[in-house]
Amino acid sequence: MKEKIPDYYNNKDLIYDEIWTLLSRGVVDRSEDFRLPVVIVNRNSTSDGRVVVLRGAFKEKKILRFHTDLRSSKIEALKKNNNIYFLFYNKKRKIQVRAKGIATIHYKNEITEQAWKKTQIISRKCYLAEKAPGTVSISPNPGYPKELEGKNPKIEDTEIGFENFCVIESKIDEMEWLYLASQGHRRALIKINENNVTTEWLTP
Ligand SMILES: Cc1cc2nc3c(=O)[nH]c(=O)nc-3n(C[C@H](O)[C@H](O)[C@H](O)COP(=O)(O)O)c2cc1C
Repeated sequence: MKEKIPDYYNNKDLIYDEIWTLLSRGVVDRSEDFRLPVVIVNRNSTSDGRVVVLRGAFKEKKILRFHTDLRSSKIEALKKNNNIYFLFYNKKRKIQVRAKGIATIHYKNEITEQAWKKTQIISRKCYLAEKAPGTVSISPNPGYPKELEGKNPKIEDTEIGFENFCVIESKIDEMEWLYLASQGHRRALIKINENNVTTEWLTP
């Protein structure tokens, strides 16, 4: 049976909007694959990646957002080199998106205050870790204090976590789209400037 051909298959002008639609869905819908991108940062001559939760996708500002611990190694890397890359794959739709941008670290400002207010206890718990993420430990541990294992603190007992909480906003300047289809793949490069967006087909 032939696959249904989506409108963007032969119309490159629909791709950019489709990407932001998928990104926005990822922010609000836990079942969307775009909720969990791989984020890649650079350190000297190497790069490394990790999965994060997509917390914001602001099409007008061309910004993607995630939350992290200020003490994590990706922050150290981003302070030296603010180039950042996101990799998304939606298995059901067979769409890969690679996004390149410039990261800004927000810490103890209006943006982090607003985001922290909306952060649920289960997520806040991660920011209660006494030691920095990635610190060597002689025994297995969840990071946060032992008494919180398997249970949640009261919201007021999580406020201290704000000390470690930061928001990374990345201004996206380039995206690459790959759509896998049995009748023939499609690949496109999208360049994003302040005032215009251009899309060109690439050979997959
Ligand atoms: C499903 C999933 C979601 C995650 N979400 C986040 C997140 O939103 N922010 C974050 O800092 N780490 C998140 N992590 C953990 C990171 O992948 C990573 O292990 C951690 O941030 C430490 O990275 P670093 O030491 O390289 O900075 C998540 C991991 C998984 C598997």
